[in-house]
Formats: sequence, structure tokens, C-alpha cells
Amino acid sequence: MSPEISSSRNTSPHLIVALDFNHKELCLNLVKQLDPNHCRVKIGKEMFTLFGPSLVEEIQKCGFEVFLDLKFHDIPNTVAKAVTAASHLGVWMVNVHASGGSRMMVAARESLDKSSHRPLLIGVTVLTSMTSGELKAVGVNRSVDEQVIALADLVLEAQLDGIVCSAQEVSAIKEATKHQLLCVTPGIRPTGSAVDDQRRTLSPSEAIVAGSDYLVVGRPITQADNPLKVCEAITQQILEAKK
Ligand code: C5P
Repeated sequence: MSPEISSSRNTSPHLIVALDFNHKELCLNLVKQLDPNHCRVKIGKEMFTLFGPSLVEEIQKCGFEVFLDLKFHDIPNTVAKAVTAASHLGVWMVNVHASGGSRMMVAARESLDKSSHRPLLIGVTVLTSMTSGELKAVGVNRSVDEQVIALADLVLEAQLDGIVCSAQEVSAIKEATKHQLLCVTPGIRPTGSAVDDQRRTLSPSEAIVAGSDYLVVGRPITQADNPLKVCEAITQQILEAKK
């Protein structure tokens, strides 16, 4: 580990590792190699459906703050109860689809405001895997950029803490929302990595320069021969981009 990375201990890590595995042992094996001072972790639909709250607890016991990425999208009452249940798990961040609308987001936020543990509440704008053609096919005739800004405005009005978006959209969103929303950005690909099913990607340094607050990285780390090395390289790139 480089001295610079090691001295970044106890600063708030900007890297969130997406733990997308179908085997608990593979997941825990990676978690044990990672350092909670350098990254947080994200548990999504696959792992939560397979292993449930006990996996969240197990990972928290290893010292990691957890982003529970279940992207709730339902009627206001159901989403409010779902985010409250997530808060009882002690997670650090939870999210809902902004396209679920203002009433749904306000219900979620008001419910968390009453909770004794208040995770960050984030609204998903347009999935980073989606192209403008795909958006049109589901009846949205705005461009991706316009749709992202419109949803970010709704998230701000509902007083959530931030949004999930592509790093390509961060600078426009920060400007449009006067830097009042945290930007959590998946679709991060270190130079030379496979793009996989992502479409609107940026490298870790580009994402930080654009103003991303948290970078979500999955397969470039989880599928690497040496995940720790990739993680350290990304942390180094983040530190350099922040100089
Ligand atoms: O492997 P990869 O780096 O593409 O993983 C990205 C992670 O971020 C996945 O867990 C995916 O579900 C999640 N995500 C995303 N786009 C969003 C929100 C979450 O890719 N808009």
C-alpha cells in the first residue's frame, strides 16, 4: 500500500465497492481483503435477495458502512415503510427511484426524519445503463440530460440528500441544484476496463474532477484477478484528482 493511501485512513472514503456476487463466501472473501478506511460497500438486489439482513449485519461487523441499493419504487406508504426498515438495519445510505414521484420521495424522507438512525436518502435519476433511445421507448421524450435534471429538481424539492446519476451528468446537476445534492455515481470504469452493460461511463479521476461525491465501482474490482490492487489504484487516482 502506498504511503499516500495509507495516510488517507480515517478520511471519508469516496469509493463504494458494489458487492454483486451470488455466493456469500466470494463476497466475504473480498470484504475481508478491503479496508473500511478506504471504501464503503454497496449491497444490491441480488445479494440482499439471496442473503437478506444477516449479510448486512455481517458486513457491518467487519467495520464497513453499507449502502443498501434496493432502489425502492412503489406507492408512498410502502416506500416509506421500506426505507424505515432499512434504517433499522443501521445502513449508511438507502435509495429510491426519483421517477416514483414527489409524494413517494417526501413520504420516504418524512418517515426517515422520525427514525432514530437516519441513513442518507438518495434518489436514482436515470440508470447509467440507459440510452436516450431506451428512455424514449419507455415514453420519456426528453433527452437523458433533461430527464436527469428534471428528476434532480424533484429530489431537491423533496429534500433528499442526493442523487444517483452518471458522472457525465454531475457538473450540470451540481450547477442546476446549486451544489445542494450529493452525487453518487456508478458507471465508473478505470481506463482500459470493460464497459460491460454500462453506457454512460467515466474514469475515477474524471468523475472526481466532474464533482462526484461517491464513486460506485463493481465489476472492475469484483472480477479482477487482484481486487485489492484495483481498489488501491482507484483510491490513488481519487486522491490525485482531488489535489
Ligand atoms: O459492475 P458495475 O461497476 O457496473 O456496478 C455498478 C453498480 O451500481 C451495480 O450494482 C448497479 O446495480 C449499480 N447502479 C448502476 N446504475 C444506477 C444505480 C446503481 O449501475 N443508476
